[in-house]
Amino acid sequence: MTDLITKGFHHVTMVSGNAQRTVKFYRDLLGLGLVKRTVNFDDPTAYHLYFGQERGAPGTLLTFFEWAGLPHGRPGIGGVHHVALGVADEAALLKWKRWLNDHHVPTTGPVNRGYFKSLYFQDPDGQILELATKGPGYAIDEPAGALGQQVMTPNDAQLQRSPEGRLYAEMTHAEPVASIGADMAIDGIHHISAITADTERADRFYSSALGLRRIKKSVNQDALNMPHHFWANYDGKTVGPHSGWTLFGYPENWNRVRGGVGQTHHVAFRAPDAESQAAWREALVAAGVGVSPVMERTYFKSIYFQDPDGLLLEIATDDPGFAVDEDPSRLGESLALPAWLEGEREQIERSLVPIV
Ligand SMILES: [Fe+2]
Ligand SMILES: [Fe+2]
Repeated sequence: MTDLITKGFHHVTMVSGNAQRTVKFYRDLLGLGLVKRTVNFDDPTAYHLYFGQERGAPGTLLTFFEWAGLPHGRPGIGGVHHVALGVADEAALLKWKRWLNDHHVPTTGPVNRGYFKSLYFQDPDGQILELATKGPGYAIDEPAGALGQQVMTPNDAQLQRSPEGRLYAEMTHAEPVASIGADMAIDGIHHISAITADTERADRFYSSALGLRRIKKSVNQDALNMPHHFWANYDGKTVGPHSGWTLFGYPENWNRVRGGVGQTHHVAFRAPDAESQAAWREALVAAGVGVSPVMERTYFKSIYFQDPDGLLLEIATDDPGFAVDEDPSRLGESLALPAWLEGEREQIERSLVPIV
């Protein structure tokens, strides 16, 4: 369809039931930067909050629409199952476990997923989150130059229900953690896991539409008869950072996702600039994919389309970035509005509950 290859995720957008609570969780408890507070450009009565690192670098961005009155959603086919953020190593994972538990956030794990080690928890709206270690990586069971060739199954000791797995899940950091240290730094999106009814159809779509390559055919370690396949930006040698896209293959008759609070709204992949995004759009249209016009999002330009399961996807440009309308050292401190909404600032500010 296109020879354009995405480097990986630009951002993922989730639905919050309460902006202040979301800020407390992601900024104050997870230590992410609030890099932009603005409104949903398509619904200016609602907050759109961006969290990330390095002044909003693509691949590190978690964004939230606040829709306070919306009911909770429900996971299902065409939805995202969970969002995983990267940490350096097992020591960091255990410190995070202690930190979260001491702040009354229950966790599951650590769990040895083979390719990485994982800790699971939920945000205040019920969005499932994971922290995953950088290593040991996808080359533990097949050569780095030939990933994704055969079905790989976990060894028994890895499984959560095994005696080893149960023992491993009891580990935590021995001492209380006083603050989020540099050794605990969260390195953006490690992977995002969604739900498909057909992994082979998904492979054709994601390889042709986004240039992602399948790097692992595995099974869901918590339900061994369920396929769990991984895609990424992969040049045949290395797997690019912030690009792990995984799909659980659910039976076709399983329920469809219901959007709402605690669910992911859409997932955005990167294009370097407007020119390649335009070429991308043309290629998608030529392949019969229904694509939106280019939308001006101030910090990037966007196009939207759906995957074959109905999941909303976006391709967003790297430029111009988040310093376009604020001092880069003071990102996210005050409400930023696009030029076409400045005239309504007073009214918009009155309708929003202030965030501290
Ligand atoms: Fe995961
Ligand atoms: Fe988006």
